[in-house]
Amino acid sequence: MVRETRLHADQLVLPLFVRPGRKLRHAVPSMPGVFQLSIDEAVREAAAAQKAGVPAVILFGIPSKKDIRASGAYAKNGIVQKAVRQLKRELPGLLVMTDVCLCEYMSHGHCGVVKKRGGQAIIDNDPSLKLLARTAVSHAEAGADVVAPSDMMDGRVAAIRAALDSGGFGDTPILSYAAKFASAFYGPFRDAAESAPQFGDRRSYQMDAANAEEAMREVALDLREGADIVMVKPALAYLDILYRVKSEFGCPTAAYAVSGEHAMVQAAAKRGWVDERAVTMESLLSMRRAGADIIVTYAAAKAARWLREG
Ligand code: PBG
Repeated sequence: MVRETRLHADQLVLPLFVRPGRKLRHAVPSMPGVFQLSIDEAVREAAAAQKAGVPAVILFGIPSKKDIRASGAYAKNGIVQKAVRQLKRELPGLLVMTDVCLCEYMSHGHCGVVKKRGGQAIIDNDPSLKLLARTAVSHAEAGADVVAPSDMMDGRVAAIRAALDSGGFGDTPILSYAAKFASAFYGPFRDAAESAPQFGDRRSYQMDAANAEEAMREVALDLREGADIVMVKPALAYLDILYRVKSEFGCPTAAYAVSGEHAMVQAAAKRGWVDERAVTMESLLSMRRAGADIIVTYAAAKAARWLREG
């Protein structure tokens, strides 16, 4: 009765990686328990999570081909668009969020358009906004309930909001990855999404791990541009940021327990060095304590089952 913080299954979001094909479950070696799934298998996985009490999924796409315009990101029959349609058709009660980014669809693996300047490749912010806005609208057209831009281009929330509004999707909320740090904890994800940058790194658009004040400015900007929910990412190494965001803005706040966090727990648990269940639940509870209303985690379905067992 005196417990201050509680974790509920209905605060969890399960990430799913969807790829073309049928009956495919490609294991991701650096993320035990996580698979690249064909849409039919993604529906199965989502149904099982929903049955356990998880209300939402967030989709990442692995397209059959990539190019320098990320055309697979906003194709009407792109992998995510198809997956959204099928999930909404087969599991109407499931909340479907989509990750809005270009890196999985760009041949170079960056989150924005790349241009050359003085022999050096740089990210071209503003042309990237148009592609991101197009992507978000195409997800909404397919039936996405929430769009979640993770690219970290400047001004993308405003661009996406305007495009959604003029496309007739004024009610579609934006969950922005507002304080997203350039983190080594994303390593396994880039295997799962096949989205590692082919040159350079993401430090010109993702944040420096040393900067908390800047994180506050990033969140303030995204809220001003129209974000409905803001996310801090990664979670465990950035609980101070999460705490500050929730305390300062009081808005709906999400945390993303990222691939590297998952991989570390899995690796140590496999060796019997930590107790998977206890460590996972303690970590998720710490994110709630720090201020997260919503937690995106690869352990969503497991955690929901553990919560049921009590
Ligand atoms: C795409 C994106 C990334 C993650 C979510 N969206 C990878 C990145 O920025 O390189 C990371 C998720 C994870 O590590 O679990 N931009």
